[in-house]
Amino acid sequence: MNTNRNLAWRLNWYRQSELEGSLLLGRMVGLVEDQHVAHCLTTHAAEEAEHSRLWAEVIKELELPHIRILRSYQSFYLNHSGPPKSLLEVLCFTQIFERRVHARFTSESADPNLPEPAHRAYERMIEDEKDHLGWVAHWLRGQPDAVRLMQNYQKIDHEVFNQLLPYEQHLYDIPGLGKESDIAACQLHAAHD
Ligand SMILES: [Fe+2]
Ligand SMILES: [Fe+2]
Repeated sequence: MNTNRNLAWRLNWYRQSELEGSLLLGRMVGLVEDQHVAHCLTTHAAEEAEHSRLWAEVIKELELPHIRILRSYQSFYLNHSGPPKSLLEVLCFTQIFERRVHARFTSESADPNLPEPAHRAYERMIEDEKDHLGWVAHWLRGQPDAVRLMQNYQKIDHEVFNQLLPYEQHLYDIPGLGKESDIAACQLHAAHD
């Protein structure tokens, strides 16, 4: 098993997923009238973009190649639900997805074989995630349809988790996840030999 290859795919996958999370939340700012919600969304979007940058730095520091990712982690949810159509749907989805991220990052960061730069990035993001979960949960408490929508996303979350679990140690085999350039393949193969 090529663990370096799997790490390269994992970190590139997370880099791209954080960026897409940022873009989704950033687009919501234009829909809200409330200054406090606009501020929370802007901060949240900016922190997800910062997370993407942090993963990009870790990838560089570990001398892992860039891998083009064609499917964010979130896109697997949208296969089941379709794209969220309102601020309420986006934030219900975000809440369930970020609970999963928090749990995954907590377990993955405990891996003793994880290189130190990656470990530091996980720790930072686990910390930031608490605020993300906090403000969204608070906002959702005042929304009448939130419980039903979250239950639906929760069901999808379990399906996606079970769908992706068999690929944990070889993410590059997830159909359509990304495209490894010849240069990247060469670099990963050389590192493995
Ligand atoms: Fe994040
Ligand atoms: Fe987050």
